[in-house]
Formats: sequence, structure tokens, C-alpha cells
Amino acid sequence: MDKDISKESKRINSSEQEKTRIPLIQIDNMTWWYQDSKKILFKKFNFSLTKGDFVVVTGKSGTWKSTLVKFLIGQIKPEKRTIYYKMEDMAEFGDDEIQRYRRKIGIIFQDYQLINSLTAKQNVIYPLVLDQIPLTEIKKKYEAINTLLDISSIETTEIKKLSWGEKQKIAMARALIHAPDFIIADEPTWNLDYESTLQIADILIKANEIWNTIVLVTHDTVLLEYLKKHIDIKTISLWH
Ligand SMILES: Nc1ncnc2c1ncn2[C@@H]1O[C@H](COP(=O)(O)OP(=O)(O)O)[C@@H](O)[C@H]1O
Ligand SMILES: [Mg+2]
Repeated sequence: MDKDISKESKRINSSEQEKTRIPLIQIDNMTWWYQDSKKILFKKFNFSLTKGDFVVVTGKSGTWKSTLVKFLIGQIKPEKRTIYYKMEDMAEFGDDEIQRYRRKIGIIFQDYQLINSLTAKQNVIYPLVLDQIPLTEIKKKYEAINTLLDISSIETTEIKKLSWGEKQKIAMARALIHAPDFIIADEPTWNLDYESTLQIADILIKANEIWNTIVLVTHDTVLLEYLKKHIDIKTISLWH
């Protein structure tokens, strides 16, 4: 992460450029619906996510935004030859591969899913501890994420004592600390006030600038307009 944070990361060599042409996620002509519902959610749906992208999926409730998130975090198994992660068919992933895949992405849940009894810092480093990363390495990565998000003033506070905005910041730090292939956030500002919403927007913008790929799902028009003003985003709009 610390390496990624420097401007150096933007100076990529040709073999890395080659890799960036392979989509991280590719959805090919997917038609899909929930078994217990007759409503077709995806009709010949195509989607592509490439390194450095900032994709915003926006639109009214009940379209398919969270369902797309479930596919992207491996919670719903796709049909064969519809969803690919770095050209690998995700329908072929077994439980172990799904677990491994999830560790390569950063997930920001609508309800945060932080551990209330732990401090903010303990939550942020939790995925690294699970992965048995050496402590010196964890320290370095934490410092890097702290430089980006400025969380030192709340790091020793238990999650349950934080505001919603602070919780979301910690959830973002946890998602970013292992320099994931991409981050996916489902309605990260749904219960935040205006000021906290813009703080989250700024974090997403910064994260994208340092070469983090982002899929953001939101129906928050304040967030959307702010992002459009400040950064180049690809929008999938489902308002009609
Ligand atoms: N587990 C499920 N089983 C059946 N239908 C579902 C399930 N989850 C969501 N749906 C339905 O699928 C549609 C899309 O839901 P969702 O992807 O959550 O929409 P959004 O996030 O855009 O609000 C809705 O009509 C919803 O009621
Ligand atoms: Mg939703």
C-alpha cells in the first residue's frame, strides 16, 4: 500500500500496462433472475471493470444494484461463462477460491460490518492479522492508510463509540489496507449527513487517484454530482 500511495505507482512499465488491459471483471451477455421471482433482473447484461476505473452504478431502489454487488463479491454463483475475474470463469470457483478472491478485493458494506468490541485500528488491521502478515508489515501498511485517511485521532476508540461517518471511514480503511484489486462499495453514504458524505467522496477520489479501481453503487445524487465535478467516472444509470 505504501508503495501504491506514492506517485511512483502511476509510472507503470510496459508489462504492467499489458496486465492493465485484461479486465479485472468482465460480464458477458448475462441474463439472470432470482429463482423465486419471475422478474428478469439482467437481460443480456455486459459490464467491464479495468484497472484504474471508477464505475458508479446509480439508480432507484429495486433495480439490481445490490444483486450486482452480490455477484461481484462472490455471494451469488453466476452461470457458466458469464462472469470472469481476470479471464477466469467465476462459475468454476469453489469455496476456497471464493475466499481467496474475496481477500483480493475490498468490500465496503452498507451496514459496515465492523467488529464493535474492537478499536478502530484493530478493525482496520483485522484482514492483515487474519492473513498472518508480519507485524512490521502491518505497521507499515497501517501508517500508509493513516496518511491517506487521517484516522489516528480515533484509532484507539471502540467502534461502538464512533459516529456513522467515522465508522464508514474505518470501513474504507479496512477495505483499502491490503491494496485490493478493486474496491466495491454499496451505498456507503446512505445514512450520512452532507459533510460526512463529501468526506467519503474525497476518500474515494483519493483512493482512485492512487490507482485503486472502484465500483460504487449509490442512489445518493449529492454524492454522484460531487464525484462528477471532481473526477472522471463511468456511470451506469438506472433511473428510468
Ligand atoms: N434474495 C432474493 N430473492 C428474490 N428476490 C430478490 C432477492 N434479493 C433481491 N430481490 C429482488 O430483486 C430486485 C433487485 O434487488 P436489489 O438488487 O437489492 O436492488 P437495488 O439494490 O437496486 O435496490 C428487487 O425487486 C428485489 O426485491
Ligand atoms: Mg441496494
